[in-house]
Amino acid sequence: MTERTPHLAESIEFRISDLGVSIDWSSMFGNENPVEVEIGCGKGRFTITSAETFHDVNYVGIERAPHYFRLMKERVAKRGLGNVRLLMDDGGYLVEKFIADQSVSAYHIYFPDPWPKKRHRKRRLIKPVFIDQVVRTLIEGGTLDIATDYEQYFDEATEFLNGTAALKKMDMLPERVRTLGTGMTNFEVKYVAEGREIYRAGYQRR
Ligand SMILES: C[S@@+](CC[C@H](N)C(=O)[O-])C[C@H]1O[C@@H](n2cnc3c(N)ncnc32)[C@H](O)[C@@H]1O
Repeated sequence: MTERTPHLAESIEFRISDLGVSIDWSSMFGNENPVEVEIGCGKGRFTITSAETFHDVNYVGIERAPHYFRLMKERVAKRGLGNVRLLMDDGGYLVEKFIADQSVSAYHIYFPDPWPKKRHRKRRLIKPVFIDQVVRTLIEGGTLDIATDYEQYFDEATEFLNGTAALKKMDMLPERVRTLGTGMTNFEVKYVAEGREIYRAGYQRR
């Protein structure tokens, strides 16, 4: 467990180099509220809207692209959102190495990079090794929800997810996500305006 370090509890951004073996969320946020993690937040619309709507939930936004990350961080700071922490790094790496067993209430992955070329598909985030880490770190009843406009990636991801015994497919998206309605992310807004089909699915840890 990471020792309580005041700068972690006070600043919006944390870094992998600040972390111990696994993250103690209550030290990071200074409370015991549930923790939801978004990987690949882009400019942060989903995490920011969620944090503004649900004050008693902690949100961790992970974005590895510096430009998007800076925009998101500025927005979080401007709004004074105390229930958000941000990381500029690889989300898959964070989950695998630093997130403790059964410590996350929800994962959100929206419009992950599709890597359409066959030789690049192994770079996709949603694949069996990553799903194993999601299963390990989700609490019982915790959720994972995904959205993409890229049908082939959706089919591949849901095939992996449907074949994961520890997860059950949900009939509806998680309640907090439904509350936000459509237009949850910057890419969703853009794709809906372009008339593209959006593929979504939610799963729950048994
Ligand atoms: C297509 S954009 C979607 C952004 C946002 N989710 C939205 O819907 O507006 C995908 C984003 O995920 C980020 N990303 C991809 N893989 C990542 C990873 N392993 N860890 C952190 N960020 C990642 C990319 O840098 C990019 O900003």
